[in-house]
Amino acid sequence: MTIDIVTERLHLRQWKDADREPYAALNMDPAVMRFFPGLQSREGSDGDIARWSAELDDRGWSNWAVETRESGKFIGFIGLTVPRRALTFMPCVELGYRLAREHWGKGYATEGARAALGIGFDRLQLQEIVSFTPIVNLPSRSVMERIGMTNADADFDYPNPAMPDGSELKKHCLYRLSRERWLRSGCT
Ligand SMILES: CC(C)(COP(=O)(O)OP(=O)(O)OC[C@H]1O[C@@H](n2cnc3c(N)ncnc32)[C@H](O)[C@@H]1OP(=O)(O)O)[C@@H](O)C(=O)NCCC(=O)NCCS
Repeated sequence: MTIDIVTERLHLRQWKDADREPYAALNMDPAVMRFFPGLQSREGSDGDIARWSAELDDRGWSNWAVETRESGKFIGFIGLTVPRRALTFMPCVELGYRLAREHWGKGYATEGARAALGIGFDRLQLQEIVSFTPIVNLPSRSVMERIGMTNADADFDYPNPAMPDGSELKKHCLYRLSRERWLRSGCT
């Protein structure tokens, strides 16, 4: 059964049919997709939703649809997933987030990501959560740093053939947060 997360301003929940349109729209926004190899088709966006909804139903956690409590409006996703590409630091659970552009600059990603970490460590009893992004994706790295993750100094080439060798998108940095460190930091 889906784990439901309520924070001060956000609700992280199971996906609804009504999320399909706004989720596809944010994946077609060049600003949102600036650090990805390209825009994402409607088919790809619907595929994400199908996969994440099934994971939420089956095991309770995945990438949650996020809405603001004030408006009930869908703003993007935040969550915990197991990466699908083979990475040298697997097995691992990855923290990820993607919000529509009009909802940047309000601290929503940081607030939701902190809550997702809480679920990962408290409820799922994970020993570690990682996150990774192109080195040049500074907004994403800032979220990781604000929530207490540390740069593992283990940059790597993300194995996505759509990212040509030498492209600035291919070189990724890895951030880690251990359960021990999270508990020591007072879980914030
Ligand atoms: C990554 C992403 C979610 C970060 O968004 P963001 O708005 O920078 O991050 P937050 O939601 O945590 O907001 C933090 C900003 O809000 C500001 N802010 C305003 N009100 C705030 C509040 N009440 N509480 C906290 N921060 C607040 C902070 O000062 C900070 O601004 P700054 O970046 O100028 O210092 C966004 O850039 C995105 O969706 N990008 C596209 C997808 C992507 O790249 N995902 C990561 C792939 S690995």
